Amino acid sequence: MVWTISVIGLGNAGLPLSAVIAENGHSVIGVDVDESRCAMINRGENPLPQEIGLDELIRRHGGRNLKATSNYEDARGSELFIVIVPLFVDEGNNPDLSIIEGALRCVGRVISPGSTVVMETTVPPGTTAGPVRGWLEEESGLSLGEFYLAHSPERIMSGYCISRLREFPKVIGGVDGVSGEKAFQLYSRFIPNLKKVSSSEVAELIKVMEGCYRDVNISLANELFLIAEELGIDFYEAREYANHEFCHIHMPSTGVGGHCIPVYPWFLIKEMERRERFDSVRLLRTAREENDGMIDFWAERIVMASLKLDLPLSRVRICIEGISYRAGAKGLYHSRNFALARLLMRKGLAVSVSDSLYSCEELEALGLRAGGAEGCHISFDPYALKIKYNL
Ligand SMILES: NC(=O)c1ccc[n+]([C@@H]2O[C@H](COP(=O)([O-])OP(=O)(O)OC[C@H]3O[C@@H](n4cnc5c(N)ncnc54)[C@H](O)[C@@H]3O)[C@@H](O)[C@H]2O)c1
Repeated sequence: MVWTISVIGLGNAGLPLSAVIAENGHSVIGVDVDESRCAMINRGENPLPQEIGLDELIRRHGGRNLKATSNYEDARGSELFIVIVPLFVDEGNNPDLSIIEGALRCVGRVISPGSTVVMETTVPPGTTAGPVRGWLEEESGLSLGEFYLAHSPERIMSGYCISRLREFPKVIGGVDGVSGEKAFQLYSRFIPNLKKVSSSEVAELIKVMEGCYRDVNISLANELFLIAEELGIDFYEAREYANHEFCHIHMPSTGVGGHCIPVYPWFLIKEMERRERFDSVRLLRTAREENDGMIDFWAERIVMASLKLDLPLSRVRICIEGISYRAGAKGLYHSRNFALARLLMRKGLAVSVSDSLYSCEELEALGLRAGGAEGCHISFDPYALKIKYNL
């Protein structure tokens, strides 16, 4: 049987999910405010070429089983509405729910009795059963029970979304028992490895926990790396033998960027601070600060390396070989590498940037000087953490 399923948000997470649902034989209405993206998808062109396996699925289903639109009215009549639009934190690191509120209110206007809505955007625990339910009820005039509501966090990894959706365990939890069961049945039609958990709050916390685990462990690796450097000990050799079944020291880095890991700890930090439980989130806050502070360490290293050259500091040409938040994934949200390049520029150093994911025009539009390592005295690879002398 063919079901009509709407996916709200056709970005890095929503588009691969839509394509996998379409590949399972269902009819997908993809709603996105970006009209040019919708047109591209309907022509069978993949806006995310870095996603392994997505080209073929978009070519096969774009404009057919997967119809993209910017008009929420086209989603009316769908049995299932999946919402996967972004959630950022504001300058004070408070979650900014405005994008999800806008999307959910539009969904509320097109659902009907019997519809199921599933939130996939990672949100602070309690958001689905609280504000999301409220927005849907207000806009639809329906009460929970007349429609169903659940949370199922996206657990993909950019570049490998298709295989993750097919293999990785995915969880789903309802705001009440009936919603949980209904959403589980619907998702089972296209997600093979699906687990039902007892509530939407559990499902929400699962994803937030994963982000916190990664952030704290990356900060531990960064701290151990700094200690090993200070002691003059090879961190990588020590790490190789330290890691075993019960110990997994992560890799050090310039910090943590992207939409996910640096954002999710704030959901818990801010909630505990609101409750004046400051002591409950000391570790999470410290990890955030340590990871963000890693660019100061790397800036100092680059300056120290520059001082070894027989040149005035301002004449040392430095190349940062990557500004994306992660190697191979194009994106600048909270990118520490982009922040590092700008920090060095603020120090008055002659910095150029190269990144195979960005054209010279894109780099220049960001206020950076485009240019590769050749012609520079020093280059820094922020993914391998290697400083090299070139001239
Ligand atoms: N990308 C990942 O690797 C990843 C991993 C795990 C979880 N997630 C979750 O997915 C969420 C979305 O991330 P993403 O990477 O897909 O973001 P993205 O920026 O790539 O895409 C979001 C899409 O939503 C669209 N959009 C924004 N407002 C809209 C609205 N009101 N109605 C319809 N469409 C709207 C945008 O035009 C864009 O195409 C994240 O906030 C996170 O919770 C993402």
